[in-house]
Amino acid sequence: MPTTSKPISRRQFLKRSTQFTLGLLGVASLSGAYARWIEPYWIEVNRISIKLANLPSSFHNFQIVHFSDLHLGFNSKPEQLSELVEQIQQIKPDLICFTGDLLDHSTAYISEAVDLFAQLKAPYGQYAVLGNHDAFGNRRAVTQGLSQAGFHVLHNEHIVLKKSSHKIYVAGVDDPWVGKPDIDRALLHIPEDACTLLLAHEPDYADQYGRLPVDLQLSGHSHGGQVQIPFIGPLYTPPHGSKYTNGLYQIPNSRLQVYTTRGIGMTRLPIRFNCRPELTVITLKPQ
Ligand SMILES: [Fe+2]
Repeated sequence: MPTTSKPISRRQFLKRSTQFTLGLLGVASLSGAYARWIEPYWIEVNRISIKLANLPSSFHNFQIVHFSDLHLGFNSKPEQLSELVEQIQQIKPDLICFTGDLLDHSTAYISEAVDLFAQLKAPYGQYAVLGNHDAFGNRRAVTQGLSQAGFHVLHNEHIVLKKSSHKIYVAGVDDPWVGKPDIDRALLHIPEDACTLLLAHEPDYADQYGRLPVDLQLSGHSHGGQVQIPFIGPLYTPPHGSKYTNGLYQIPNSRLQVYTTRGIGMTRLPIRFNCRPELTVITLKPQ
């Protein structure tokens, strides 16, 4: 028997519309609360392997902790980072690399940051570069603070890591906002066929560095966009962090790969959505 659907009354229609609107408002406020209070402090430990053609055998399975963009002072206080320090200590990496933006603007938390960073130790050392937010007259204070905590800040320079009879190189280039980037100076005298890692705050400079004998660039700066709309991508990305926004990329016609971490903190807006703070653990593998 065919059935006929009964038209709903005006009263029923109003009731259903109200329920629907309240439902939407509920979802929106729950998402807002999640993005403001939960996701920003829910660190994801992202373990990845990166294959490098020039990696000497002694450095196979060499483990690097890479983190970036704390933005202390902007909705992020040092005491909120004790979990991060614990996580890094538990991983026990061979090397620790920090790619800038320790502060947001003010130096208010610099001494607490020194205490936190001083707890981080790795057998092959702790290295850093500064980010664009470490500028604004704070360059010296951040460099001093990181050095005091046992981090070697690489201002257009490099160091050599030796294991058995093999070497790899770790270079760091200044951020254009903070100092004068000089990549040629940072890489001076590194043999062409050596395995070279580069710390550079802003990832999109990889397009320029692809011409150079660098194997892997580690960067931050983009925060992954902080808010990623499902199926669309980041809502906003900063200049020089819009192309290589997050994850691993191969630079075309080059041996250079760039890895961009989503970072730990926030700036501009105190929210993260679908873009959790990231602590990256990289294991180097031969190609
Ligand atoms: Fe940043």
